[in-house]
Amino acid sequence: MSNEQILTLKAEAQRRPIGVFDSGVGGLTVLRELYRQLPNESIIYFADTARLPYGTRSAEEILQFGREIISWMIQQEVKMIVLACNTTDALALSTLREEFDLPILGLILPGARVAVQQGSRLGVIATPATAASNAYRHAILEVQPTAQVWQVGCPEFVPLVEQNRLYDPYTKEVAKQYLAPLLEQQIDTLIYGCTHYPHLAPVLRELLPLHIWFVDPAKHVATAAAQELDLIGELNTFPPLPTRFCVSGCQQQFASLSLQWLGFTPAVEKVSLPTVALSPLESH
Ligand code: DGL
Repeated sequence: MSNEQILTLKAEAQRRPIGVFDSGVGGLTVLRELYRQLPNESIIYFADTARLPYGTRSAEEILQFGREIISWMIQQEVKMIVLACNTTDALALSTLREEFDLPILGLILPGARVAVQQGSRLGVIATPATAASNAYRHAILEVQPTAQVWQVGCPEFVPLVEQNRLYDPYTKEVAKQYLAPLLEQQIDTLIYGCTHYPHLAPVLRELLPLHIWFVDPAKHVATAAAQELDLIGELNTFPPLPTRFCVSGCQQQFASLSLQWLGFTPAVEKVSLPTVALSPLESH
């Protein structure tokens, strides 16, 4: 291959978008960080709104959804996947990495690494599936075996965010109940173990003493993505394409809900995901 051909291939690889997905608007907290830290990258954002919430689903379902979304993203020629969903990270990341041949980044390990530098009594608020998986506890203890970790599953938060009930007094009441066991343990750090939860920051901040640090893994997965792209020589040096917003459910609902976080009303495409056969072991 000539030098010119190699350079053309490299430029093509750099230009390919990053695929980012979540069940809904939670992943916009990751998208915002990617915009901030990787302004040159083109991004395809997929929200699986037809099947939301993910946090009360089984590990088999989450894995299958991840397979379908990543297969579709590969058809869109992405160069990397950023899971903007802790539940997918907790329940399916290792299998998805075995099954697909492109970098797949999760939030939990980057979040855990930073959290142990901030405190030693760590509270994690997460979806019921993420909390039950103990993924945060394992990741934290792997990097800091002396840390203490308390995890609380918060089943009502994602539906409340998706219904745009951020400032509803009921949301504050529910938040109070979820945070009570963590306050009892005198945590010094609170980890957002679900990407929807930073949208509730004003309510949560009000309910916790000021000395408690908040860790948003979204920031740290964006840093990890930047480092990985640099390492593999695929940071985009060309002007990025506008972000493609894609959903499996209602386009209009996603567009109007997103406005408050994006600062613009996105054009939203509805896509049908490919059907991916279950692996032989799972189909029995
Ligand atoms: N935002 C996702 C997460 O970080 C999924 C939430 C859900 O759909 O339950 O876990």
